[in-house]
Amino acid sequence: MTAAIDLHDIRLTLPSAAGPVKILCGVSLSVVPGETVALLGPSGSGKSSLLMVAAGLEAPTAGRVCIDGTDITKMGEDELARFRRGHIGIVFQSFHLIPTMTALENVAVPLELAGARDAFDRAKTELEAVGLGKRLDHYPGQLSGGEQQRVALARAIATRPSVLFADEPTGNLDTQTGEEISELLFALHTRAKTTLFLVTHEERLARQCGRIVRLRDGLIVADASASSA
Ligand SMILES: Nc1ncnc2c1ncn2[C@@H]1O[C@H](COP(=O)(O)OP(=O)(O)O)[C@@H](O)[C@H]1O
Ligand SMILES: [Mg+2]
Repeated sequence: MTAAIDLHDIRLTLPSAAGPVKILCGVSLSVVPGETVALLGPSGSGKSSLLMVAAGLEAPTAGRVCIDGTDITKMGEDELARFRRGHIGIVFQSFHLIPTMTALENVAVPLELAGARDAFDRAKTELEAVGLGKRLDHYPGQLSGGEQQRVALARAIATRPSVLFADEPTGNLDTQTGEEISELLFALHTRAKTTLFLVTHEERLARQCGRIVRLRDGLIVADASASSA
């Protein structure tokens, strides 16, 4: 079976005032379609950096990233942007909605870019599915944190990406709201039949995934099914 995510010997070194910093030091990982993987590790271990590389938002210094069997490492910017639109959805800790667009527009725009003709109708359906049918015309600034993350989830899943990446999606929310969002995240993963790659430092959230990969100082130190991790 073709892997949904295949990372081969990923290295990332970034410049800093004190000289080059090794952030990822040779990470290899293969994720099968439909799998739920939690990337767990302490702050600064390189989780967000690995997600950015795997999702094609940051080029690795060395190594290869394949998504759905396609090597994205050598792609030019336009080709990569097009590929991401068709295959990858991302949710961030701080929502990353466009503040000058309504909830409906935030979800509809990526659908339009992906070539959907009924983008606004579909966006409405996606927002209804996350419980925001009554907030379509609200701007992000008029929504609570939990509601903003629901919009971000609807936006990420609307194009039916094969891989859904989430970086600490509950990190900016109170416990109760965070639980609602993580429940919704897993429900959307199941409904849309995506692969889920979830970055978190919360053991409890990680245990809801089928597999837990532990990162420390830019290296994988453990990789096991959640029942045995
Ligand atoms: N643009 C950058 N330039 C230099 N160092 C960075 C940059 N971004 C992150 N880092 C460093 O890389 C390490 C890993 O960061 P990050 O991937 O954000 O970790 P995590 O998400 O696990 O907290 C940290 O030590 C951080 O300071
Ligand atoms: Mg991070």
